[in-house]
Amino acid sequence: MTTFSTRRCGPIVTDITIPGDKSISHRSAMFASLAEGRSTITGFLESEDCLSTVNAMRSLGARIEHTGKGTFVIDGCGGKFTAPTGDVDCGNSGTTMRLISGILAAQPFRSRLIGDASLSKRPMGRVINPLTEMGGHFTSEGDQPGRPPLVIDGGSLQPISYEMPVASAQVKSAILLAGLSATGETSVIEPAACRDHTERMLQEFGVALDLGVADANGRRHIAVKGPQTLKARDFAVPGDISSAAFWLVAAAAKKGSDTTIESVGLNPTRTGIISVLQRMGAKIEITPVDEKAAEPLGKVRVLGGPLQGTVIEGAEIPNVIDELPILAVAGALAQGKTIIKDAKELRVKETDRIAAVAGNLRLMGAIVTETEDGMIIEGGHPLHGATLQCFGDHRIAMAFAIAGLFADGETVIENVECVATSYPTFGATLASILTPQPGHVIAIDGPAASGKSSVSKGLAAALGYTFISSGHFYRALAWGILRDGLAQPLSTDTVNAWVKDRHLQLQDSRLLLDGDDATPYLSSADVAAMVSPIAAFPSVRDLVNSNLRALAETTNLVMEGRDIGSVVFPETPYKFYLDASPEERARRRAKEGTVDSVAERDRLDSTRATAPLKIPEGATVIDTTHLNLEQVIQAVLSHLKPRLLAD
Ligand code: S3P
Repeated sequence: MTTFSTRRCGPIVTDITIPGDKSISHRSAMFASLAEGRSTITGFLESEDCLSTVNAMRSLGARIEHTGKGTFVIDGCGGKFTAPTGDVDCGNSGTTMRLISGILAAQPFRSRLIGDASLSKRPMGRVINPLTEMGGHFTSEGDQPGRPPLVIDGGSLQPISYEMPVASAQVKSAILLAGLSATGETSVIEPAACRDHTERMLQEFGVALDLGVADANGRRHIAVKGPQTLKARDFAVPGDISSAAFWLVAAAAKKGSDTTIESVGLNPTRTGIISVLQRMGAKIEITPVDEKAAEPLGKVRVLGGPLQGTVIEGAEIPNVIDELPILAVAGALAQGKTIIKDAKELRVKETDRIAAVAGNLRLMGAIVTETEDGMIIEGGHPLHGATLQCFGDHRIAMAFAIAGLFADGETVIENVECVATSYPTFGATLASILTPQPGHVIAIDGPAASGKSSVSKGLAAALGYTFISSGHFYRALAWGILRDGLAQPLSTDTVNAWVKDRHLQLQDSRLLLDGDDATPYLSSADVAAMVSPIAAFPSVRDLVNSNLRALAETTNLVMEGRDIGSVVFPETPYKFYLDASPEERARRRAKEGTVDSVAERDRLDSTRATAPLKIPEGATVIDTTHLNLEQVIQAVLSHLKPRLLAD
């Protein structure tokens, strides 16, 4: 059994490459196989579903050669296929079975379409009915009427005008493909816009279509005059926005994330996920790359931040139909209520996606009410890890792997082999996100009472970074010296011997020394008195520095101290030195109720032999004398943002 095991991760700051679009890959293989001549398809999604289409086309006589990753050279049959010698296996793919039904209804031979257990439960009546009206002969052999296997006795067809009861791109495509062979005009009326890859790509392969104009209710007539033969052409498949959707949601919901996805298909009948996320408050930038291509594409960048609930309903549903599972996860992560309705179609996808999503979200601690045609999610409740099923449905498996990135503890999704049907490399990208990456370090140095600590905490919160005070590490060791009763005054030999066996560890926000929680003692007066003397020992500084550097190997940090930019991370490009007049700092100290002399502390800090306080090379100095906390944070951010974003 293959599983995904996920847990909470830090901000997702990365570039992600996604594989080719599934819908477009299917059509590219079918249309090139139908066409007259040789086509080369690039960027093809080599997933189980799309390979089912390739194999089906081969079994019908198309010559298809795999010449490189995602590249197929296809010699089409000019509209005339040959009878297959065995069953045509559509695997898990509804698109393969429904679209091929439209093609085979017009071919003068018998064929039998079969599928796996999930496909054998999906309704085919929606294509059988209109195709039978056109003159195709279908027998369904499934356990219920209209279910696969399907036996098709094809032959000559007559045109029809068909009003689809549901906005389904698969049904629309099956009828238009059948209409290519019927003499006269076949038209389909879609009740709401659904993906139009078939229309765009048929035109690209030389077919004349009448695309009509949507009326005030969004109904549109699409017509094709048969007979027509497709002409071969080379075609580049863009990246799949339905695969990108998982990362778009993960990055949008995780504070501090900055994720770019290159070469995503941006067909307007598929970009509903972007509009919904923007409505939820996500910051998304789109850079079109090729708007004129039959299938437009571009680059999408997402910055993480808080999301708010939304309502997804009506005409928007067909545009986000495959993204609803991951949008439901976004709803659980958002503040407030998210309502999904008019999405009854979800009940007849690879599994009943309404039941699967609602059930799994509840197992993770979300509050969800299932409705007949959707669900209501009360967002913002913390998610916890759980062991979940995906019911053989790739999009359920991936949606909950992403949910696990936001949950306490471990989330395990079992039997995720099905992900290979649409996104075989999902697991590898997930693993790379879960593998800790060296982070950015923002070093904040400065004298006592310059505001380092409050500013660093505020910055870390604004950026989704981890706040670290190097002073806490010195204080934990000072506490350890007191705990272990080392002889005073401290000698170098005693301290060196003692430090050698010390083990510091940051666990969530607790600081442990040799497994003991030092956190409650860090601001005690005894510890405060011990910290300056022990921080002067090079062996103590080495231990603290190696701990601080290890933290940066796995996450983004805002670290404050007195030698962060000069000694601990001299190589970080993000260095700040906060200062304020001695009078202002003395005033701040007095306000805190601390009595130590700022002047004396400055003298000690700047004259000590090891790592004396100084302005690190390349640091931006900010005089905070006349600034409040928010103004200092904004000043740091205004220096930081353009540089961080350029990296
Ligand atoms: C698809 C259409 C949609 C979608 C499916 C792919 C297509 O199905 O859910 O993943 O490629 O035409 P319906 O047409 O059944 O809505």
